[in-house]
This record gives sequence, structure tokens and C-alpha cells, in this order.
Amino acid sequence: MGTYLITGATGGIGRAVAELLYDEGHELVLAGRSPERLHRLAEHLGSPAFGATQTIDPARLSAPGPPVRTVTFDLAEPRRLEAALALADLPARLDGVVHSAGVIDLGPVAELEADQWIDQLMVNLVGAAELTRLLLPALRTARGHLVFVNSGAGLRARASWSAYAASKHGLKALADSLRAEEPALAVTSVYPGRTASEMQKKARTQESASYLPESYIQPLTVARVIVNALATPRDAVLTNISIGRAT
Ligand SMILES: NC(=O)c1ccc[n+]([C@@H]2O[C@H](COP(=O)([O-])OP(=O)(O)OC[C@H]3O[C@@H](n4cnc5c(N)ncnc54)[C@H](OP(=O)(O)O)[C@@H]3O)[C@@H](O)[C@H]2O)c1
Repeated sequence: MGTYLITGATGGIGRAVAELLYDEGHELVLAGRSPERLHRLAEHLGSPAFGATQTIDPARLSAPGPPVRTVTFDLAEPRRLEAALALADLPARLDGVVHSAGVIDLGPVAELEADQWIDQLMVNLVGAAELTRLLLPALRTARGHLVFVNSGAGLRARASWSAYAASKHGLKALADSLRAEEPALAVTSVYPGRTASEMQKKARTQESASYLPESYIQPLTVARVIVNALATPRDAVLTNISIGRAT
């Protein structure tokens, strides 16, 4: 069993990844901004109700689940990440990091203000880069696997998506450079299409369109793809995975 750190663990996709990895018996480090939300998620994972609904092996129902720790930081403030990690009791080895935290703020270039650019670039790109830098020693120890939850917008920029798309294009560059620099690590970029979550609800509101969760990819589906990528035998690595909505 491995140890995995997940950012955006309280969000739609990150939470589904946490549930799947926990159910497989992995140790987790749940990362987010709110200690209360993180602790609620940790309690949910450890509760018998979760085990009873997710576990098919009856022997595991009575066994204690794997350890779950939490670490609190704000990716919008990458200069403070090092201090936040130093205060946390992080494991010395990490088998994987899933970068799922992200923010979106849509609008035409003519209207997007500097703070909107800065926030999306900090959280979606600079924060992910700085966190990666700080976690590299633990990842190298385990010959670990990084998954960057990118977006279709990381491959194509559409009208009103400039800042978000720029952050995700940058995230692709970060992953590609890292893969070339750290051959002992596995690096995967995942590019989901519209996925039912709070982020998508905000995007649809900003597009003046209705939010219909059943019309989008479900977070659990994206999470299954991510967990499968993490489980791929290390004679191969899934480098770039696009996930589109089935028609
Ligand atoms: N939903 C989609 O349609 C879609 C499509 C393609 C790609 N994606 C990508 O998928 C990833 C997950 O998105 P989602 O749909 O699961 O969105 P979500 O439900 O809105 O979750 C976003 C997560 O990011 C965290 N976060 C936001 N700002 C943060 C900050 N400053 N510091 C630390 N954590 C922060 C949130 O944590 P808090 O609890 O602290 O708020 C939350 O856990 C994102 O990278 C997104 O860009 C989403």
C-alpha cells in the first residue's frame, strides 16, 4: 500500500480520488484551505458507514482503515507553502501526489482584471509548481507518481477562458518539463472535459448558462481514470489523458 497526498481533496474530483484510494487501503494526506472541511472528510473516510458502502471484502469492515492526515495551506500564497509544510507532520516518502486544487474565473480579456489573472495563475500553476518542488524529496524516495489535474482548456483556449486556460497551459508545461527532469518519477497530466462540481457550476453561471450536473462527466469517473493511472505498472506511464463526455 502507498501514501498519497491530494490537493483539492475537499472538491468534487479530489474527494472522489481520496475515497477510491482510501478504499484501496492507501494512507492519505488530504490538503486544502479549511481544517474543518478536511477533518470532516477524514472523519467521513474513517467512518464505518463509508467502509460499509465502499468495501466489498467483509473482513475489512471490522478492520481499522488506513491512516488519514490533513495539511492546511492556501495555494494562492505559494511563498507560504514551505512554512505550512514544515509545520505539518508529512511522511518522508510519498508514492504519489494528485494536484486537483483549482479555481476558475471567466471573462473576456477586455474585462479580466489583474487580480483575477493572479489568483488563477497562483492557485492553478505557481502553487502547484512550488508544492511539487517542496514534495520532490519525498517523491524521489518512493520513485513516486505525480498527477496534474489539467483541463481541456489546457490544450485549447476559448473566448472568455484566457486566464484559466493560460494557467492550465502552464500546468501542462510544468508537467512536461518535470517529466524530462525527473526520469525516476512518473508524471501524468489529465485533461477532463466539463465535470459536475462547484467549479463547473461557477463556470456555467459566468457563461450565463444552466448547470445540469447529469449532463457532465461525473467526478467519480475522472477519479477512476486518475487512480488507474496511478496503478499502472511502472514499465509504462500514462503521460497525457484526455477525458471527454460520451455522446
Ligand atoms: N469541474 C470541471 O468541469 C473541471 C474540468 C476540467 C478540469 N477541472 C480541474 O479539476 C480540478 C478539480 O476541480 P473540481 O471540479 O473538483 O472543482 P471543485 O469542486 O471546485 O474543487 C476545487 C478544489 O480546489 C481547492 N482550492 C481552491 N482554491 C484553493 C486554494 N487557494 N488553495 C488550496 N486549495 C484550493 C478547493 O478547496 P477548498 O476546500 O479550500 O475550497 C477544492 O477542494 C481543478 O484543477 C480543475 O481546474 C475541472
